[in-house]
Amino acid sequence: MNTPVTHYDLLIQGGTVIDGTKAPRFNADVGIVNGRIVAIGQLAGHTADNTLDATGRIVAPGFIDSHTHDDQAVLSQAQMPFKVSQGVTTVVAGNCGISAAPLRVDMDLPMPLSLLETPAEGRFTTFAAYLDALRATPSSVNVAAMVGHSTLRAVVMSDLDRPATDAEISAMQALVEEAMQAGAIGLSTGTFYPPAVKATTEEIIEVGRPLTSRKALYVTHMRDESDRVMESLEETFQIGRALDIPVVVSHHKVQNTRNFGKTKVTLPFIKEAMQHQCIGLDCYPYTAGSTMIRTDRGMMEGRVLIASSVPHPECAGRDLKDIAAEWGVSGEEAAQRLQPGSAIYFMMDEDDVQRILAFDDTMIGSDGIPVGEKPHPRLWGTFPRVLGHYSRDVGLFPLETAVWKMTGLTARNFGLHERGALKPGYHADVVIFNAATVRDTANYETPTQPAEGIDAVIVNGAVTWQNGVHSGVQNGQVILRKDAAATV
Ligand code: ZN
Ligand code: CU
Repeated sequence: MNTPVTHYDLLIQGGTVIDGTKAPRFNADVGIVNGRIVAIGQLAGHTADNTLDATGRIVAPGFIDSHTHDDQAVLSQAQMPFKVSQGVTTVVAGNCGISAAPLRVDMDLPMPLSLLETPAEGRFTTFAAYLDALRATPSSVNVAAMVGHSTLRAVVMSDLDRPATDAEISAMQALVEEAMQAGAIGLSTGTFYPPAVKATTEEIIEVGRPLTSRKALYVTHMRDESDRVMESLEETFQIGRALDIPVVVSHHKVQNTRNFGKTKVTLPFIKEAMQHQCIGLDCYPYTAGSTMIRTDRGMMEGRVLIASSVPHPECAGRDLKDIAAEWGVSGEEAAQRLQPGSAIYFMMDEDDVQRILAFDDTMIGSDGIPVGEKPHPRLWGTFPRVLGHYSRDVGLFPLETAVWKMTGLTARNFGLHERGALKPGYHADVVIFNAATVRDTANYETPTQPAEGIDAVIVNGAVTWQNGVHSGVQNGQVILRKDAAATV
């Protein structure tokens, strides 16, 4: 409020502000000029080109989806209705070791890399080319992107079923360096997945060397989220210490019945480690996960719902058990025939999910997979589900905390400059919602339905979603790592 502006491009009037810092809500108007918030306060009598009435509504920073696989969707489904309709204005892409760049033009993509479809524009052979394409044709959301270790392995190695050689490590390192120079915010791994199962801790540390001088992030879908989850956490923290960089544990969970309740051990362990190094974690608000179709027994313990299948698209939305019975084969055999594809695995305990969500430092990330007609409902429902179901109905935490977990906390952990809070000078990413009615409507049967109670979504000052309708605006920006933004 240093400059005395009295005319705005957009004025949000009469709302209750939850500013994304966990501070208690307060009544205020919000004035926006040139894609930035310029004033928050009683702005009666001020004029604007466009006014939104937020009486009886919450005005909050646009939500940041800390864990997405939207790398290609931001180009091929650029209006991003599944995210914008939830109030999401920024996505972090390049998770679980998988990124859209760099790729070789001539290479075959192994699962799960092939889950991200190749865009019409073709493949990006450098990280810079990917970010350039996003800048040339912006999507409706802001994008901060990471480079994926499994993608680098597939680019560099002829055989993924072994640790990388020194020469391959150097080649991957050079690609990480290129991504860092282009403005990538970090490196992700997915050692749970076949392309990276054989990568050693040392390989990851060496590939990640270019992160250190930039204090860029190491983000991981850990090796094991089941019986060996503690060892996996320790490996993650070890990599963070070796590189002296912040780490993020992706979609923290403990899976399989025999491990139910283990969050009583993992969360205090994470809390303890946080005393000594920089650690973040995220979580999606469901007891089912979703990933590529697997045939290992551990994954088939609970209900398995097929989300998509290349050879059998007609099986999407059906239970693996029913498909196997119909075909007269075992579950493993049916799963094998359905590959490649993705499935939904019911393998977590509700108490664990709630314990992780309620943990102070847990961010909200959807892990949505924007492919096919029967995706996991988290793609469309994650954020309203936390606001409506978990905060309001279950009472897990106050609304101010829920908003913090999807804005301020996330912007801090990922280094997203001047976003994630409603403050003068910050980018005008804003969501207006009804605290009494906000709720997810996407479920396992009908997973592609927009949330209720999200009134308006503003991205860099532009109204992008209003009363259930996308405005067509594609005003998203590419968010570069802060030190790169100064030089690129
Ligand atoms: Zn993952
Ligand atoms: Cu993921």
